[in-house]
Amino acid sequence: MTVERRKQGSDQGIIGSSLEMLEIINVIDQVAPTGITVLVTGESGVGKEVIAKAIHGASLRKSKPLVTVNSGAIPEGIIESELFGHEPGSFTGASGERKGYFELANGGTIFLDEIGELPLQSQVKFLRVLENGEFLRVGSSVTRKVDVRVIAATNKNLEAEVRHGRFRADLYFRLRSVNIHIPPLRQRTADIPVFFKNFAAEIAERNNIRFEGISGEAMDFLTSYHWPGNVRELRNAVESMLILGRGRYIEADDARRYINSQHSGEERNLPVPVPRNPEQAERELILRALLDIKGNLIDLKDIVTRQAGANGPVGQGSSHPDAVEQVYSLVEMERKMIADALQRFNNNRRLAARALRISERTLYRKIKEYGLP
Ligand SMILES: Nc1ncnc2c1ncn2[C@@H]1O[C@H](COP(=O)(O)OP(=O)(O)OP(=O)(O)O)[C@@H](O)[C@H]1O
Ligand SMILES: [Mg+2]
Repeated sequence: MTVERRKQGSDQGIIGSSLEMLEIINVIDQVAPTGITVLVTGESGVGKEVIAKAIHGASLRKSKPLVTVNSGAIPEGIIESELFGHEPGSFTGASGERKGYFELANGGTIFLDEIGELPLQSQVKFLRVLENGEFLRVGSSVTRKVDVRVIAATNKNLEAEVRHGRFRADLYFRLRSVNIHIPPLRQRTADIPVFFKNFAAEIAERNNIRFEGISGEAMDFLTSYHWPGNVRELRNAVESMLILGRGRYIEADDARRYINSQHSGEERNLPVPVPRNPEQAERELILRALLDIKGNLIDLKDIVTRQAGANGPVGQGSSHPDAVEQVYSLVEMERKMIADALQRFNNNRRLAARALRISERTLYRKIKEYGLP
């Protein structure tokens, strides 16, 4: 019975052989067939989305939609219209009527990622839909009803958020009745070799690489490493080791060199202060970008002055090349800073946002705005 149930979990694409993972698979098998709300918690990259998908995939709703919504990525002003839909003309720019994610997920499951980012005023409405499936579209007074299973996830400590007045206590208590907490990878090291094997096989096949294997010492290094980016980081590391090493046998030095080159150690040792106010943080980001381009501008001015010396006086007004360069450079600099931070932190948006001293929401918005991967 238990073995059969475990098999179900692994059928849903969950890899893991640690006691912690087996326990989680067990819980998934128990809760999946019910309609109960589940809160999935754990650090960034531990596999919260994988678990949410597994719950939906093992549920009676599996043939209905699974709608994933990242609460941290939607601008605050439109979050309610995104979740609950809106009527024509309910706010500036709301032309036609629009179904929200809850309506789109009707009969299926909604996965609300980064639930800790949901603004306080939207939390009340979310609680209502959780309790009785009822909601109002923005601009409408007609109560609508849906049958949606909710899975929420966060890497925040919601209890602390409640204490700080950023998260409603009633919603927290409602959500935490079934809480699947995924421990960080460093606390379930038995999973590391299994992940390695699975990822290596998949990546080798996809890239047409013949993988020669890994030494015991290299695997020991991988197992003892602290993996701040968890499974996502491990997956990226395996991908790079295989592709850059063209499938060659991996020795301890290769593993060590690769992991160390990914981390110059900053996020391990230096806590980055996070400003409280995201707008202030955004201003700071722009300010720092401006300071960075100040040097470029001085160089640019030098060039223009030198050209002017060579070609006679430079034209006045907005056609001056300086004016165009300034605007362009600021945007470009910001894009570059964000791309660099994402690369440095292995696409871990939480760490990148912290390093850039902006909120994750701002980072998500900018990634979208700049079309970054
Ligand atoms: N148990 C698992 N089995 C298979 N793959 C996994 C597992 N856990 C994590 N992964 C892989 O690790 C990566 C990160 O997983 P996922 O996106 O679910 O993490 P997350 O906790 O949602 O991260 P974040 O908080 O940053 O959103 C994905 O590539 C996913 O496929
Ligand atoms: Mg996620």
